[in-house]
Amino acid sequence: MKYPLNEKYSSPELMAKIMGPNPMKLEEELLAGHLIPAGSVVCDLGSGQGLTSVFLAKEYGFTVYAADLWSDPEENRQFFREMGLSDAEIIPVKADATDLPFEKGFFDSIVSTDSYNYFGRNPEYLDEKLLPFVKKGGYVYIAIPGMKQDCHDHLPPELLLSWTPEQLDYMHDVAYWRDMVGQSRDAEIIEVSEMESNEEVWADWLRQENEYAVGDRKAMEAGGGRYLNFVKIVLRKK
Ligand SMILES: C[S@@+](CC[C@H](N)C(=O)[O-])C[C@H]1O[C@@H](n2cnc3c(N)ncnc32)[C@H](O)[C@@H]1O
Repeated sequence: MKYPLNEKYSSPELMAKIMGPNPMKLEEELLAGHLIPAGSVVCDLGSGQGLTSVFLAKEYGFTVYAADLWSDPEENRQFFREMGLSDAEIIPVKADATDLPFEKGFFDSIVSTDSYNYFGRNPEYLDEKLLPFVKKGGYVYIAIPGMKQDCHDHLPPELLLSWTPEQLDYMHDVAYWRDMVGQSRDAEIIEVSEMESNEEVWADWLRQENEYAVGDRKAMEAGGGRYLNFVKIVLRKK
């Protein structure tokens, strides 16, 4: 597929900051035809080093809260300023997605790329921990690494070249995620589907020289990619 908005974001300096398969391309596919109103206040949940947050602020014009657990908000603030964004346009916050430090109903929408699978594999998560912070009628857009078909009882040896069974337990198929979010009382499911992005977002990641990308090459070079995909989830708060 084509990623016209991504053309400005392919420099080696920006690519060196990705933390997995190219999250800005995933986000461009995730948000094609999105329903989030212009000018919305959006939480980039699990924003990492903030690439996806910059993309949301610059390409979609949202006011973005870049909420993340592992990254340093001061480093992210510096990066956002270097990218020409003001402190009013994009706000870095140290935050645990299971204990968000915001007022109830604070966000118009949530966007989350390559992180929901760390904390959202719990049927109570949406109603108890996330949706209380979203306005009624607000949208939640999620893109996560997944599996074409769950195979945790008989994991292909190619995948085990790079990941442990515990790490692979973070990846699931469309049916798993439809069932997971379908247990929410407060979310209307708009879409749960397999994404088109796969090879191109992996290729951008595997070209990087950091230890995680190098480690992931073993499984992918052995053909493990045929078991993997990305899953798109779109919800609306009732
Ligand atoms: C693979 S990185 C992806 C980062 C970013 N979305 C991107 O695609 O570049 C996963 C991110 O999930 C975040 N994360 C994991 N568990 C979290 C939690 N409980 N609350 C908030 N963020 C969490 C980590 O801090 C990490 O930055």
